Amino acid sequence: MTNQYISENKDRFLNELIELLKIPSISADSAYKNDVLNMAKALMSNLEASGADNIELIETAGHPIVYADKIIDPNLPTVLVYGHYDVQPPDPIELWESGPFEPIIKKTDIHPEGAIFARGACDDKGQMFMQVKAFEAMWKSGDLPCNVKFLIEGEEEVGSENLEDVIKEHSERFSADVILVSDTGIMANDVPTITTGLRGLSYVEVELTGPNRDLHSGLYGGAVVNPINALAEMIANLTDENNHINIPGFYDNVEEISQEEKTLMANAPFSQKAYCDALGIKDVDGEKGYTTLERATVRPTLDVNGIWGGYTGEGAKTVIASKAFAKISMRLVPNQDYNRITDLFKSHFESMAPVGTSVVVTPHHGGEPAVTPVDSLEYKAASLAMESTFGKTPIPLRSGGSIPIVAMFERVLGIKTVLFGFGLDSDAIHSPNEHYGLFNFYKGIETIPLFYKNYTKLKSN
Ligand code: BES
Ligand code: MN
Ligand code: MN
Repeated sequence: MTNQYISENKDRFLNELIELLKIPSISADSAYKNDVLNMAKALMSNLEASGADNIELIETAGHPIVYADKIIDPNLPTVLVYGHYDVQPPDPIELWESGPFEPIIKKTDIHPEGAIFARGACDDKGQMFMQVKAFEAMWKSGDLPCNVKFLIEGEEEVGSENLEDVIKEHSERFSADVILVSDTGIMANDVPTITTGLRGLSYVEVELTGPNRDLHSGLYGGAVVNPINALAEMIANLTDENNHINIPGFYDNVEEISQEEKTLMANAPFSQKAYCDALGIKDVDGEKGYTTLERATVRPTLDVNGIWGGYTGEGAKTVIASKAFAKISMRLVPNQDYNRITDLFKSHFESMAPVGTSVVVTPHHGGEPAVTPVDSLEYKAASLAMESTFGKTPIPLRSGGSIPIVAMFERVLGIKTVLFGFGLDSDAIHSPNEHYGLFNFYKGIETIPLFYKNYTKLKSN
């Protein structure tokens, strides 16, 4: 019944998603505050039309949270669906082949049946919307096997800083047996995958100041520390020749993965050649002693996300800037505490500043890593669901990305999460020309109801 409902309504599902993708709900930019609110309202209307009850806009100190539920029987299990309706800024806008908020469907090599191009198509509007439509299909076809709650937030891309307070305040309302999140990916469309871990994050901004004003680089060059040169050197010295991070204490609590997980990763159908080709690079480079897949998922990292200072306009201006800046992120793995890592970074970076400069380190958001078990009932329910729709048992793999609320939910609510995402790494999330395969969108809508069914069944045994 659910499947029939999906096939009869699939075009409408896509058209509804297209309408949501037109709303520029950019959480990072206050100029879009009203669009973020409009997106929340559009989602509420959609949830209502889909059959949800108790639809509510929960205000926070930042952007609001959308809540909705369907409680069919308090004795049945409850699935809490988490997702986010906010998106990353579209910059650099000139690299988009079509407007980031003018969704269009195009075929690509990886998505021969078409993909929808727009900011948020995959991360996370398209994926979050699969959950809403899967719910609609189950409910309207009389197949909903258990209770559902929706918690769709508008601040994931800026660190979910207000979510914890809301959860603590309304912990009763968010009580559930399992959390279901579609905001991750699979390895390929013929390689179903269940994400079993996420990295944590420490994000800092650094400001290095030299002379009290910009200087003529002929009159002063060579005699005064140039903050941009110095910052570049400090950053270069954060890692050694083996791409190991030099911050004292950084690796103190890092958990090495088990031999079992190492073998699993080594056997995953990952092609380094295809990886390089897709990125237009000749070879990879990273921490010595680890494979590409390990480096990108289970090892901690340090990356400059942006660096600026001095003259960057047209032509040449001879100047030694007074200040240089950078934004630096560190991806963290289990047992690394992000507050501690931020402190370690701060004291180390301050100690590196050459004489004649001063440095200010400002922490931005952080987040805890998370690992989800593979021997649990909810993992089994997810695995069997994917097995039915893909015709293959999914591979459990950790992802390198971060969704800090996963660890927070476990800590505050004591509820485990199933990461049930259907995106591809090649979908260009956070990048120009983000897209989401129609295959993936529909595969998600088709697979999610099977999770509900399996989970309810396993839970009642
Ligand atoms: N959905 C992503 C994270 C993700 C993507 C995990 C793909 C696994 C696979 C999420 O929206 C995101 O971008 N998170 C941020 C962190 C957040 C605190 C801004 C990230 O990972 O950079
Ligand atoms: Mn996301
Ligand atoms: Mn994101």
